[in-house]
Amino acid sequence: MRKLTTLEARTTSAGAVDVDVIAVFQDSGKKPIPPRSVYSGAVERLRRGDAFVARHGSTQFVRFGGKGSAESCLLVGFGAAAELTEEKVRSAGGNAWSRLVAEKCKTATIHIDTLFAAKGLPREPGHARLARAFAEGLVLGAYQFLKHKSSAKSGDDGYAGPAKISFLTQEKALKKQLDTELGQVMDIAECVQVTRDWSNEPSNHGTPEFYAAEARKLAKQHGLKITVLTEADAAREKMGLYLGVGQGAEREGRIVVLEYTPKGVKNPKTIAFVGKGITFDSGGISIKPSARMEEMKHDMTGAATVMGATMLAARWGAPNRIVAIMAFTENMPDGKAIQPGNVITARSGKTVEVINTDAEGRLILADVLDYAQDFKPDAVLDVATLTGAVSIALGKQAAGILGNDDQLVESIRRAGEVNGERLWQLPMWDEYFEDLKSDTADMKNSANDGYGGTIRGAMFLKQFIRKGTQWAHVDIAATAWAVGHLSYIPKRGASGLFVRTLAQFATDF
Ligand code: BES
Ligand code: MN
Ligand code: ZN
Repeated sequence: MRKLTTLEARTTSAGAVDVDVIAVFQDSGKKPIPPRSVYSGAVERLRRGDAFVARHGSTQFVRFGGKGSAESCLLVGFGAAAELTEEKVRSAGGNAWSRLVAEKCKTATIHIDTLFAAKGLPREPGHARLARAFAEGLVLGAYQFLKHKSSAKSGDDGYAGPAKISFLTQEKALKKQLDTELGQVMDIAECVQVTRDWSNEPSNHGTPEFYAAEARKLAKQHGLKITVLTEADAAREKMGLYLGVGQGAEREGRIVVLEYTPKGVKNPKTIAFVGKGITFDSGGISIKPSARMEEMKHDMTGAATVMGATMLAARWGAPNRIVAIMAFTENMPDGKAIQPGNVITARSGKTVEVINTDAEGRLILADVLDYAQDFKPDAVLDVATLTGAVSIALGKQAAGILGNDDQLVESIRRAGEVNGERLWQLPMWDEYFEDLKSDTADMKNSANDGYGGTIRGAMFLKQFIRKGTQWAHVDIAATAWAVGHLSYIPKRGASGLFVRTLAQFATDF
């Protein structure tokens, strides 16, 4: 694991640091309110009517040239105090990180009390949550995928951002809370890093075997039980749909099963997480166009999200048992590959006519969802880059969520909401299944007409959910990659979104 920025809470100054970070709000006339602090240089600049107006999301770097407790000061704009939300603070944290990196700062002190000094701040979510959100924005913004760069392993000149960031507060009680909160934020940074690294990994390196081996190391570090199923094991399990998808690939598939058991909890509830792990989706015989096909290395992000979230929930000591199942395989065209029109049999016994070999995610998930239900879970949640259609429906601003239990869907949606990770429910009316009925088999994997793609994907999965199982499905095909609108998410490559939501859900369920 790459060395990450260290976060710490303090009630006294950390001594000589590069930069002091202070929050600045706007008054009703949208003018910056000079912060109540010792940073006279910065305050003077504000009074002189400098360009900095403290609009939410803006930053201003001020160099003192040796005066004050730090060499320089970073002003972070928060807009109007009354309109402040946790997500706005998280977003400002992302902007602050970018600016600290641009200015090549090595250490920083966040004068966190300047965030609470504003008049008219909403009572909720409270100081500790706001400070935590700022920390989240800082650490989530800090990410680079440099594994395959031969020269620089940490940026062009070896600089990868501040090594240490202190959160300074005069409130002793808050400092104590922050010790815990910042520890949890460091956990987030490390677990989301794993998800992003996995997601960004090219498929010649990121093979099913590779992820199984990585999962083994991570499971050991986190005290998780791990079982790895080979294709021979999957054959014994009669996973005909999972094996059908991998049939055209040279590289063998792996199904990774992780188990987390909470300590000291009598009869914990069980949550099953299921992740789509297509290490490369060429489309198979129904081959995809070549434009941007390279992005299909991230078609295993559902599995990567489940991995990161399970580690995170374990670190946080979630009170529920988690069974995490990650189904890895490749979707490739070949002489042995499944062909359109083929009929294959699922673990559940149902038969499927494969109309489109590019609708492969639902095939592998069907078998692992069936397998997951053998663990008698109280809730099942699968996460998958399942359909391009979800980006048409919701854009990159929200992931699609569907399920057979509105209460479960709502609790996952809420876990997302508090983390700034948006989920939006789509309907699952029975009529949507009409188009997946087959003349030859029990169902088709695609209707091939381009309508209601995300819902149909979920309707297909629903056929493998047993009576009495509470189940939800999250389609992250749009939000997993190249998310541009969040300051704390890399603009290119893996986003790492929904790791926090899943861990939160596993903690609160
Ligand atoms: N992995 C893709 C979905 C996808 C598209 C993920 C874009 C990320 C970005 C999935 O396997 C797929 O190909 N889905 C098809 C389904 C169709 C053939 C029914 C799609 O969305 O076109
Ligand atoms: Mn596909
Ligand atoms: Zn796919």
